[in-house]
Amino acid sequence: MKILAIESSCDDTAVAIVERRGGKASLRVLVSLVASQEKLHAQFGGVVPEVASRQHLEAIYPLIELALHKTKMTPKRIDAIAVTTNPGLLGSLLVGVNAAKTLGYLWNKPVIPVNHLLGHIYAGWLGDETVVYPLVSLVTSGGHSEIVLTKREGEYKYVGGTRDDAAGEAFDKVARLLGLGYPGGPAVAQRAMTGVAGKVKLPRPMIDEDNFDFSFSGLKTAVTKVRGKKEDIAKEFQTAAVEVLASKLMAAVKKYRAKTMVVGGGVSANRQLRQEIKSRADRLGVKVIIPDIKYCTDNAAMIAAAGHGLWQRAGSGRAAPAKFKWYNANVITD
Ligand code: KG4
Ligand code: ZN
Repeated sequence: MKILAIESSCDDTAVAIVERRGGKASLRVLVSLVASQEKLHAQFGGVVPEVASRQHLEAIYPLIELALHKTKMTPKRIDAIAVTTNPGLLGSLLVGVNAAKTLGYLWNKPVIPVNHLLGHIYAGWLGDETVVYPLVSLVTSGGHSEIVLTKREGEYKYVGGTRDDAAGEAFDKVARLLGLGYPGGPAVAQRAMTGVAGKVKLPRPMIDEDNFDFSFSGLKTAVTKVRGKKEDIAKEFQTAAVEVLASKLMAAVKKYRAKTMVVGGGVSANRQLRQEIKSRADRLGVKVIIPDIKYCTDNAAMIAAAGHGLWQRAGSGRAAPAKFKWYNANVITD
């Protein structure tokens, strides 16, 4: 079973083909392409929605053709198309959704609508690890910082999340405050490498509270009030964000007696966060899956992985479940 997936929710146009061959841990990424718009938006210091959707329009069909070409695949051998339908920038989403529906119609293939955050969680299925339930996931990206509990496959319960800025958004804003450039996450991480944690002091918002919520906006404001070397501020900010994210995740894992945790979203590309979560998970004796860095930031392989999961749950075998007929994908839904 092969799914061609399209992701265009923000500023990356992405296309992937992922195959599933029965059994567990059985997803194989045949191709995963990302056309980044980073340089285009860097001149504005952030994503300009109108520019993003126009760029998606230019990139989407050549990228689909390239994915087919690289895998020597014809549309006949594709079983279904998965596409990100929500959440995201509307103009950007529309480009991907329309491409998916058009191809679904022309090739007579079902279209599977995929929630972007579910995609970030399903990136955990792309490696060799097997997910054992209950599962607690942390999705931490430019737009979201959420903790989700999955007792059984297909059930997703929000147990906590940010009350203001997402973690990635805070990285981006701090990068801007410190004049480190765009995109902010990698820029702060880079500068933090030569910094010393604790040289300046920043708060760990909500870390001791008995819930799984975050608040990053105060942390960002605190950055405007400290004086010190940029690298020390970057390191202390990164350490504060990492400590809060890791301890809330561990608290949720303990409370819900999770057997696996999955961490996804752009901020999980951060090396300090990856190390901190891995070492805390080891101490707890709980399995942790943090995808390859290329599957943490936006990509279409994760959308294909989620598509496979949704397909399996909605039906069985290769026959398209009725709800994925292309004409049913005409609404943007969760
Ligand atoms: O998942 P993603 O690619 O797009 C969204 O769905 O938002 O996440 C992008 C976010 C940005 O805020 C970016 O600054 C952050 O992830 N990010 C990082 C790192 N790489 C990307 N944050 C911290 N450290 C990184 N290495
Ligand atoms: Zn994302």
